[in-house]
Amino acid sequence: MNSLNSTQPALLPRQGEWVFEKLRPIMDACGTALAPRDFHWAVNLSFHSAEAEHYEREHSAMIGALPEKWERLLAPLQTSHAGSIRWLDVGCGPGVMGRVVTEILAGKIGCATFLDPNAEMLRLCEAKAKLWPFPSRFIQGIISDLGPGEEFDLITCNSVLHHVVELEGFCRVAEALLAARGHFAHCYDPRREALEDRVLYRRRRVARFAHSWRDVRHRMGEMYRQAAHSPSPSSLIEAETNRQLLASGAIRIALDIREIWAVTDFHVHDQPGNFGKGISESELRSYLAPLRRQEYFSYSFFDLGNAIPPFRQIEQFLFKRRDPHGLLFGASWAKP
Ligand SMILES: C[S@@+](CC[C@H](N)C(=O)[O-])C[C@H]1O[C@@H](n2cnc3c(N)ncnc32)[C@H](O)[C@@H]1O
Repeated sequence: MNSLNSTQPALLPRQGEWVFEKLRPIMDACGTALAPRDFHWAVNLSFHSAEAEHYEREHSAMIGALPEKWERLLAPLQTSHAGSIRWLDVGCGPGVMGRVVTEILAGKIGCATFLDPNAEMLRLCEAKAKLWPFPSRFIQGIISDLGPGEEFDLITCNSVLHHVVELEGFCRVAEALLAARGHFAHCYDPRREALEDRVLYRRRRVARFAHSWRDVRHRMGEMYRQAAHSPSPSSLIEAETNRQLLASGAIRIALDIREIWAVTDFHVHDQPGNFGKGISESELRSYLAPLRRQEYFSYSFFDLGNAIPPFRQIEQFLFKRRDPHGLLFGASWAKP
């Protein structure tokens, strides 16, 4: 098993260096001498190490909303026998999926593999595993590091696919690792179709307007923090990511947090460089063939606007109605 203690993970099939070339403007701005793939991985690993200790607090809203999404995605596995499911969680981070899946699939998980390229994230995941009622193993690496003898009945990715630059190769490996009648399920990724979605565009404008007071409050909070020398979590993460990158010689000029996010959240729209276009249902369908789509839903119908009433209630209502105009999506795929 390879482990990722360098910035050079195993190559995924089919895609190559050219995909990473989209990072060139950000690379030029920070004076890196690394090749584009190495630059991506240096930023990815430094950012997620810096983020690890803040992750669950910063993403508490997302984590609280996971059960309703994953109940839908895992519904076909409810007929599985006790202890029969061999589960792989890719990009497990600090292990939030352990509790979600345990609560939904109760005693059906036989064993679990938690995979992440980041040592800090994996360490936090391992610390939680004592609470889960199934044996677990922890592997530092990416999906193509798993050996050919591996086979799984369930592969999950929560908030991971948008980090995966070589998405086609990733999907082909995921498909190959699934057992017959196995399931691949993923959630919390940006919908490519959202770029052209007029309904979403109008809803987001209304929500932004209704939330403009929150921007004012946010700016005032930032000013207060600066005056009180009490930095926000995102400025701590930005500083620590840059500290690691500068110390290793990966960059010469510090990146700002929006550039760091653009590199790590590679497929997310509206970021510096503007190369992120979201992930489309049709590209996934072609990359994952012969898997068949079982579930597809969208959510985050107002983007910024879900945080306060009445948007929170309308978000719930639209999710239950399976409204197709969300910014984010979840999907599951089954092997024949
Ligand atoms: C946003 S966190 C999600 C963590 C967890 N799945 C959750 O739902 O909270 C993304 C995780 O994906 C990992 N990651 C980044 N690039 C990856 C890749 N190419 N393959 C697999 N995991 C990756 C990161 O190290 C990080 O732990």
